[in-house]
Amino acid sequence: MIEVRNVSKVFGARPEAALAMRREGASKDQVLAATGCVIGVDDLSLTVERGETFVIMGLSGSGKSTLVRHLNRLIDPTCGQVLVAGQDILGYDGAALREFRRHTVSMVFQGFGLLPHRTVQENVAYGLAVRGESRQQCAERAAHWIAAVGLQGYEKAWPAQLSGGMRQRVGLARALAADTQVLLMDEAFSALDPLIRAEMQDQLLALQDNLHKTIVFITHDLDEAVRLGKRIAILRDGRLIQVGAPADILHHPADEYVDRFVRRRVATY
Ligand SMILES: Nc1ncnc2c1ncn2[C@@H]1O[C@H](COP(=O)(O)OP(=O)(O)OP(=O)(O)O)[C@@H](O)[C@H]1O
Ligand SMILES: [Mg+2]
Repeated sequence: MIEVRNVSKVFGARPEAALAMRREGASKDQVLAATGCVIGVDDLSLTVERGETFVIMGLSGSGKSTLVRHLNRLIDPTCGQVLVAGQDILGYDGAALREFRRHTVSMVFQGFGLLPHRTVQENVAYGLAVRGESRQQCAERAAHWIAAVGLQGYEKAWPAQLSGGMRQRVGLARALAADTQVLLMDEAFSALDPLIRAEMQDQLLALQDNLHKTIVFITHDLDEAVRLGKRIAILRDGRLIQVGAPADILHHPADEYVDRFVRRRVATY
């Protein structure tokens, strides 16, 4: 469903110089010192199968959000290719891109990304409204997903009146209401308390049993990764260090860095 081919993303004014240094073997820090450019994603390739939940892990700053933002073209790569459902999405013009974002890919943002001047219900129905669905359809679907994330009674509330965890649930309901084939979830559960977080994980697993969406899920939490992921990818400094089934990652960590992520858990598996 998703194919990332040799994608690099350099932030800064001299991307070509940065990539050339990197090809010569310079580290991310050396490139930054010499060019002022940050390498966000570094020659990364991966494939996400249709219907799988693909988890991305890695330390803060390892490039998880940057990578995922390429998948709906919130950012474009410095070089490389991104294919979704076999289509080269970098070739899309404005109209094709709008269509793609309305129907194919939706995203739950790390910072929630709610529209501050719209109510909970309007935020959840937003994607449906912009793609021209009827008022009644919008209202029904929004009500369904607001209830599903446990926010009944808050339909008319403003985002500023909600707690962080509640805002996160609004973002989640909005992405689910859009009913796209691909869901990008950037730390979508991280602001939730443990009980609600476990509930949302259950809900996502149940949803997957029925709908088989393609989900790219970023998390810092190994328990969550193992629970949700069919496969887990580990990033470091923008590079893909290892990708595999949870058991592979837990029992055969590719290096010391991956080992540090999983050591804590191995005893219990
Ligand atoms: N807009 C930007 N301009 C400059 N540098 C950026 C930008 N966005 C990200 N970066 C850099 O790219 C690298 C990867 O950042 P990214 O946000 O993808 O990390 P992350 O893995 O999502 O981290 P976290 O777990 O903290 O969310 C970091 O070094 C960051 O400083
Ligand atoms: Mg991030």
